[in-house]
Amino acid sequence: MVPRINLVWLLLLLLTTNCEEEGVSFNGFRGAGLSLNGSAVITSEGILRLTNPVSHQIGRAFYPRPLHFRSSKTGNVFSFSTTFVFVFVPENINGIGGHGTAFVISSTTDFHTATGTQFLGLFNKSNNGNSANRIFAVELDTIQNMEFGDIDDNHVGIDINSLRSNRSYSAGYFSDVDTSVFNNITLNSGEPMQVWVEYDSSKMQLNVTLSPMEVAKPSRPLLSSINNLSELVTETAYIGFSSSTGSFETSHYILGWNFQMNGIAQTFNLTTLPSLPPRRSNRKPKVVLIWVPIIAPISALLAAAAVVFVQYRRIKFAEVLDDWELELGSRRFSYKELYKATRGFGETQLLGVGGFGRVYRGIMPTSKVDVAVKRVAHDSKRGTREFIAEIASIGHLRHRNLVQLLGYCRRKRELLLVYDFMPNGSLDRFLFDHYHQPLNWAQRFHIIKDVASGLLYLHEEWEKTIIHRDVKASNVLLDSELNGRLGDFGLSRLYDHGEDPRTTNVVGTPGYIAPELLRTGKATKESDVFAFGAFLLEVACGKRPLQAAESGEDVVLVAWVLRNWRRGTILGCVDPRLSCDFVVEEAELVLKLGLLCSHHLPATRPSMKQTTLFMERAAQLPELAACYLDGDVVELLQKEVSHYRSMPSHSSSTDSMLFVGR
Ligand SMILES: *[C@@H]1O[C@H](CO)[C@@H](O)[C@H](O)[C@H]1NC(C)=O
Ligand SMILES: *[C@@H]1O[C@H](CO)[C@@H](O)[C@H](O)[C@H]1NC(C)=O
Ligand SMILES: *[C@@H]1O[C@H](CO)[C@@H](O)[C@H](O)[C@H]1NC(C)=O
Ligand SMILES: *[C@@H]1O[C@H](CO)[C@@H](O)[C@H](O)[C@H]1NC(C)=O
Ligand SMILES: *[C@@H]1O[C@H](CO)[C@@H](O)[C@H](O)[C@H]1NC(C)=O
Ligand SMILES: *[C@@H]1O[C@H](CO)[C@@H](O)[C@H](O)[C@H]1NC(C)=O
Ligand SMILES: *[C@@H]1O[C@H](CO)[C@@H](O)[C@H](O)[C@H]1NC(C)=O
Repeated sequence: MVPRINLVWLLLLLLTTNCEEEGVSFNGFRGAGLSLNGSAVITSEGILRLTNPVSHQIGRAFYPRPLHFRSSKTGNVFSFSTTFVFVFVPENINGIGGHGTAFVISSTTDFHTATGTQFLGLFNKSNNGNSANRIFAVELDTIQNMEFGDIDDNHVGIDINSLRSNRSYSAGYFSDVDTSVFNNITLNSGEPMQVWVEYDSSKMQLNVTLSPMEVAKPSRPLLSSINNLSELVTETAYIGFSSSTGSFETSHYILGWNFQMNGIAQTFNLTTLPSLPPRRSNRKPKVVLIWVPIIAPISALLAAAAVVFVQYRRIKFAEVLDDWELELGSRRFSYKELYKATRGFGETQLLGVGGFGRVYRGIMPTSKVDVAVKRVAHDSKRGTREFIAEIASIGHLRHRNLVQLLGYCRRKRELLLVYDFMPNGSLDRFLFDHYHQPLNWAQRFHIIKDVASGLLYLHEEWEKTIIHRDVKASNVLLDSELNGRLGDFGLSRLYDHGEDPRTTNVVGTPGYIAPELLRTGKATKESDVFAFGAFLLEVACGKRPLQAAESGEDVVLVAWVLRNWRRGTILGCVDPRLSCDFVVEEAELVLKLGLLCSHHLPATRPSMKQTTLFMERAAQLPELAACYLDGDVVELLQKEVSHYRSMPSHSSSTDSMLFVGR
């Protein structure tokens, strides 16, 4: 009889705990009734597709009802367990990007304040890390974002109110045979994988486990940590997924999802899940010439006309494509696609004419993504391979303060570069076009910090140093939220392959070119900082670094600010269009920092790292007096200008250009 009593006990025990055994179970999502937001859809196969990769997108899907997460007796969060199967399908050959997907427990499903794809659709710049968020997430992240201290570009992390993960580990799993053996997994592989997130309330232990579909649940979790989720998860909370991707990057799919409160979520079996449609091929179809039989003179004529037409189109849309380009893994667009997107590069689509070529606005024919296409004249023979490799590597750069390069197309004499379209155009229009509402101080200060952060990334945070070579207000573009983004980086490399080794080519814009650059012809981080200094003064003063005065003599902005600083009237330099409505300490900081960055001696200029610290007020700006004691700097600066004037190719004072010296 003893066993029977045990059974009754067990039943009683189950009954008392069972009242909070809420569960969610989806093998495919057809008719699941999830609340979808952003780019999330349920496909005809019943798969939850969180993002499709046409443009920067955020997609979310939540179980529509909130669940009770806390015991009314103890007030503590219940134990729970969830498992889901996901597939990340890369949309470019090299399989990079796409930010990632997170499983989320949140007090709300209202994420309308979440902006910027790097926050996975959960936070914005100002509330990231705020303990009032009450958001728990497990991220599957495929971008290494320095901002969040990410360990690599393929990791799993536990996120508590912040995308700076509490714990993280490279994607993979520990072997069951020998649990010290770690097997890597590539998240962005197009293969289905399963994730388990389990929380034991009594031990406050949180386990996250990942494995490919063909591997059974590993016994050793990838991440195991002690977190008191009772401090985080609210009484009732929503469960779901949030995901984000950049343009032409990754599609994020969820095939199945089980969640169980106070119990164990059932593991999936691939055979019972819906399967993804076959993957699109990235290779472009070849133009096929159809041979038309000659039956009658009429059809012969038609055929001839057709051949002429096809040949004409072939020439019109001809491109240059070498085998090695396929290995670079950068997105190549067809000329035809770009031709259509920009309505045949029509004048109505022209956005501007820059130092390197004409820029057109376009809408990609199938994806409807807004793009800016830059046509750059380029001799296809000279240094092409290195240059295209450079372009490809620039395409892998990702930072919220850089204009994203989406891809390129190469023709015999030109290169077409495709960028994200920036709806607010370039900063110099806001500064100098009088029909534009002037930017207020807070906007200017914000943009300055953005540009500093973009340049810092290029100089120090990416795997290799990139010198911008042409930092200036007209190369700073403003997105829809008026965030500053640096454009045109690395382009000046185009002119680096001088045929005559005795000539030094200097690319840049007068007024932003560091004095030593004119002498040596070698662009460095310091010469970028010089240009950044000129840019700071430009934004604060609302004046160009070099202006033609009535006397015919150019006025150098740095010299003018320096003179004012010596007289103790530095604040008198601030743009009069601000009508004295600015933060005095910030304006003073920007002006002094501008002077310091534009110092004539490269060694005196701060690095971008230091510059950012000064702006964040994490470090004290050195006293200017100490740096500017020697010689008459004003005169020296003025002399540099007469240098520009004697340059053979000096024709306009605002455009970037190529100086050929010595
Ligand atoms: C997405 O969420 C926002 C805020 O909660 C809401 O206003 C909007 O209607 C939602 N969109 C869709 C498509 O459900
Ligand atoms: C960020 O989100 C918080 C709270 O969700 C909101 O109060 C704030 O206005 C948002 N900030 C921005 C810059 O959107
Ligand atoms: C992780 O979260 C716990 C609280 O759950 C906190 O005490 C700890 O400092 C966090 N660690 C990091 C690195 O954020
Ligand atoms: C796994 O990934 C790590 C980090 O990316 C790398 O160092 C290691 O060599 C990889 N191991 C295998 C077996 O691929
Ligand atoms: C977490 O994993 C450890 C094994 O490393 C296991 O002992 C523990 O029971 C697991 N906890 C949960 C909540 O699954
Ligand atoms: C966990 O957090 C809850 C809520 O803040 C608190 O009541 C409880 O004592 C904490 N548990 C432990 C073991 O610290
Ligand atoms: C998956 O499900 C099928 C059908 O229910 C079953 O025959 C098969 O054994 C299962 N496979 C695994 C690995 O559990």
